[in-house]
Amino acid sequence: MDIEIAVVPVAGLGTRLLPATKSQPKEMLPVGRKPVVQYVVEELTRVGTKQVLFVTGPGKASIENHFDLNGELIQTLRESGKEELLAELAFERSAVQYFYTRQRQLLGLGHAVLCAKSFVGRRPFIVALGDSIIGMHAESDVVRRMTRCFFERDAVAVIAFEEVPRDEVSHYGVAAPVSPGDVFELADVVEKPSAEEAPSNLAIAARYVLSPAVFDALEETQPGKGGEIQLTDALRALIRQGGKAYGVRLTGGERRYDIGNFDAYFQAFVEFALADPKHGEALRRHLEELLHVPHA
Ligand code: UTP
Repeated sequence: MDIEIAVVPVAGLGTRLLPATKSQPKEMLPVGRKPVVQYVVEELTRVGTKQVLFVTGPGKASIENHFDLNGELIQTLRESGKEELLAELAFERSAVQYFYTRQRQLLGLGHAVLCAKSFVGRRPFIVALGDSIIGMHAESDVVRRMTRCFFERDAVAVIAFEEVPRDEVSHYGVAAPVSPGDVFELADVVEKPSAEEAPSNLAIAARYVLSPAVFDALEETQPGKGGEIQLTDALRALIRQGGKAYGVRLTGGERRYDIGNFDAYFQAFVEFALADPKHGEALRRHLEELLHVPHA
């Protein structure tokens, strides 16, 4: 069984990527050939999503334009004999329906998800962060594995997790698993703990499958770390009320590329560019020359 509706929060200011994000959304920054948010939508489409609700804000109109049909561009390509480039616009014709709502105050990820309440209603839904790609070329079915867990175990929430070095846990929501394994029950989730306090080194990895009960919990959630309404705090409350929440680990091939800071963004861009079937090899040779690496 698939979950048809996905909420993609894209309202953040992306301040860690200034000046690149001054007048363009960070979710539209290219990684290799495509903007980040296109990989996110392609991943969702592959696991059966039919409706995508973007939670947007001022300055994010280019996301709407990107997923719209651009008849003028198609006609120009046809008339100028560049038909082969039409394949690059195939994503425009996917069967997904797009919806947009505004997060009118930037009060955090939990608040952005709460903005989806009246659209989602009482259905289960996916949350996929618009600034994170899962796996090279977004070829991950982690959301499908999470959905299976959600229905089989009658969960209130299933969260994707990735192992990170201990000294990085303070950037993420972190799991307190009940037991080890690729799918594990959660005793708790903690937002941005210190390395000493962290219950594990399993960090939330930008994908959630949630029951609509999370909206009730979000409405009760007070601002937490950073003065923001944290989704992690609402999930924690659901667990404390007796709801069953589970974690699903990303597998080896499913690295999470979060492009929220320049280190991670540069690394993601280079990895995707190196994997490009047409241009990757030339880039590899160029990098080897720059770095004086002897040719293999
Ligand atoms: P981040 O916290 O990484 O994004 O949120 P940010 O706030 O834009 O980053 P900085 O710290 O200023 O650099 C992860 C995702 O959640 C969305 C962001 O757009 C991003 O895709 N988000 C975050 C919202 O939609 N609303 C919020 O209030 C916060």
